Amino acid sequence: MNTTESHHEIKRIGVLTSGGDAPGMNAAIRAITRTALKHNISVVGIEDGYIGLYHNRVKELTSHDVENIINRGGTFLGTARFVEFAQAETRAVAIENLHKNNIDALVVIGGDGSYMGALRLTESSIPCIGVPATIDNDITGTDYTIGFDTALNTIVHCMDNMRDTCNSHRRVTIVEIMGRHCGDLTLHAGIAGGCEFAIIPEKDFNLDEIIANVDKAFKNGKRHGLIALCENLISAEDFSKRLNKETGIESRAVTLGHLQRGGNPTANDRILASRLGEFAVQLLIKGVAGECVGIEKGLLVHHPIHEQTHKKPHYYVDDMFDICAEIA
Ligand code: F6P
Repeated sequence: MNTTESHHEIKRIGVLTSGGDAPGMNAAIRAITRTALKHNISVVGIEDGYIGLYHNRVKELTSHDVENIINRGGTFLGTARFVEFAQAETRAVAIENLHKNNIDALVVIGGDGSYMGALRLTESSIPCIGVPATIDNDITGTDYTIGFDTALNTIVHCMDNMRDTCNSHRRVTIVEIMGRHCGDLTLHAGIAGGCEFAIIPEKDFNLDEIIANVDKAFKNGKRHGLIALCENLISAEDFSKRLNKETGIESRAVTLGHLQRGGNPTANDRILASRLGEFAVQLLIKGVAGECVGIEKGLLVHHPIHEQTHKKPHYYVDDMFDICAEIA
């Protein structure tokens, strides 16, 4: 099948969430379900992502099933990472289950790993559309992913709390933030949280320089320091100990962890999820397949999944980075 065109009439679609959960996934499921039902297309929810598809764990979704979920974090369908889906034999079982359930097309809500599964299924004549959802904001073809805004607000709220205690005790706090290999959450939180530094994979950093700057600022009377650190770069704990050893300044490491991934989606994430969910179904109805939806400059867009690279262009990093890299 040409990955961008499908000629089946769609009577029944499946929807699944895959990879790490993200606030707003429920809002996307709701929009997908309600849009499909409005067009007389029935909807099947698949539990726990591709693994649920492999084990044929599916349930019919009605309009009532998606009531009261727009405001809930996580995903009521469940999600999982299922690396075995990269194997053709595993996918063959999943495809058989899709046929058994008369599912003509699938909407996959998740990150780039989930998109690959959608692409492979499309190549096997199951039209799929990918909807970007991950707190990391590391997917190409969209300016923002579902869940990013909520996680960002959660982090900034935590930073505000840390600032209170940090300032009271005259301390530095190194805040380790999720993002896998993408610094978007760290950089945005660094600015909104008023951090002195943001340490992200997209920019070289020099710990000696950062430590010297913090030391100078504290000697000039500064009472607190917040440093936003993207995960998978250096250990927040080691950095904190080193800062303390070299300057004598009291320091703490805080790893926010999965706290960042839960919680009620923000209004922005609910709206983004609703728009992208509805758009995904509209595209399937028009015969588009093997594509992912996104939002660019406020407009809904779609791109072939196979054109998506693993590296998101970070055109705004330089601009934003300078705001953070200042210390009073
Ligand atoms: O992709 C979302 C994410 O939260 C990353 O930021 C993080 O590195 C990873 O998932 C954690 O994965 P898990 O929930 O499997 O520990």
